[in-house]
Amino acid sequence: MIKRNRFALVAGFSAMALSLAACSSGEESPDADSTSGGAPAASDECNVGIAMPTRSLERWINDGEGLKARLEEDGCTVDLQYADNETDQQISQLQNMIANGSNILVIASIDGTTLGPVLQTAGDADATVIAYDRLILESENVDYYATFDNYSVGTLQGEYIESELGLADGDGPYNFEPFAGSPDDNNARFFFAGAWDVLSPYVDSGQLVVPSGKAPASVDDWQSIGILGWGSDDAQAEMENRLSSFYAGGEKVDVVLSPNDSLAVGIAQALRTSGYTADDFPILTGQDGDKAAVTQILAGEQSMTVWKDTRLLGERVEEMIMSILAGEEPEVNDTETYDNGVKVVPSYLITPEVVTADDVQSKLIDSGFLQPGDVGL
Ligand code: GAL
Repeated sequence: MIKRNRFALVAGFSAMALSLAACSSGEESPDADSTSGGAPAASDECNVGIAMPTRSLERWINDGEGLKARLEEDGCTVDLQYADNETDQQISQLQNMIANGSNILVIASIDGTTLGPVLQTAGDADATVIAYDRLILESENVDYYATFDNYSVGTLQGEYIESELGLADGDGPYNFEPFAGSPDDNNARFFFAGAWDVLSPYVDSGQLVVPSGKAPASVDDWQSIGILGWGSDDAQAEMENRLSSFYAGGEKVDVVLSPNDSLAVGIAQALRTSGYTADDFPILTGQDGDKAAVTQILAGEQSMTVWKDTRLLGERVEEMIMSILAGEEPEVNDTETYDNGVKVVPSYLITPEVVTADDVQSKLIDSGFLQPGDVGL
């Protein structure tokens, strides 16, 4: 009940603010959609278009449905669309949202470099654009960015490997196979950089050996080991190829850097098929807290996942939208890191955390993020 009044409250306040402003300045009340830099104009319309990349990756279903439910409870009109990882489909979905009067767009882009023209249309229509989880590149028509601290996702994965293998104590050599995320995903660069900044000194020192030779020459070369579209099947095929080509002589893989859970699920399947069991499974990282990955963590195969509680991201975006509707500047906590090539986008970063088999119950189940039945408990 309170929430429903929430938007009405915001709208009420903004309408009051508007009329007060009008009578104090004697001017005409500014119309809702003339945003001229700074705080967006207050609006008594909450019409939100939510564009998600795909349904084939578990988290985006939670993200989309969760945010939609929140905003509808606030009294907003919500148009939620998924785009099967097809950029053209996402662009036409955005065009429809703008044409149908969405005054706020929340976009988890498939390829952040493809949205310039459609966002110009959004800008011309005075729609406010929030980049969701993934930064939108090369456009001035991105107003805010809400995400997790993407660089620290990689740092947490790198530090986990460093401590589990005793690398800082000089231990090694270990057989190491690195993977990176989708080459068209700006986040994947941050994930890889965070991990590689921790691990590359050990590749240089010879403590981490890469039998497949697939160690990027530098962070900027991350796309050379990227898995397009974050597909489990493609990751499985790539791992099977590395196992058959570089481990046929009985060598064992000791550690695999997987940037997220959908890749970790494919990599684990390749390892199982080639005879690895929970007793000799290599260290295997992940991200997202997907059901299948958490199940293999509890089975002693995958070692950890970097959990990003998507409910917190939904809550943050809801806060941003309510501020925007009230004509206020949304709260941000990073105004330096995310330069999209045209501007530094004001951002709000949420802190991710490591989950291992020891704290699946306390972090994922007790918090309600997952149900016991989702992971075989
Ligand atoms: C990234 C996202 C990750 C992961 C991946 C695949 O952009 O931040 O959480 O899910 O996409 O969807």
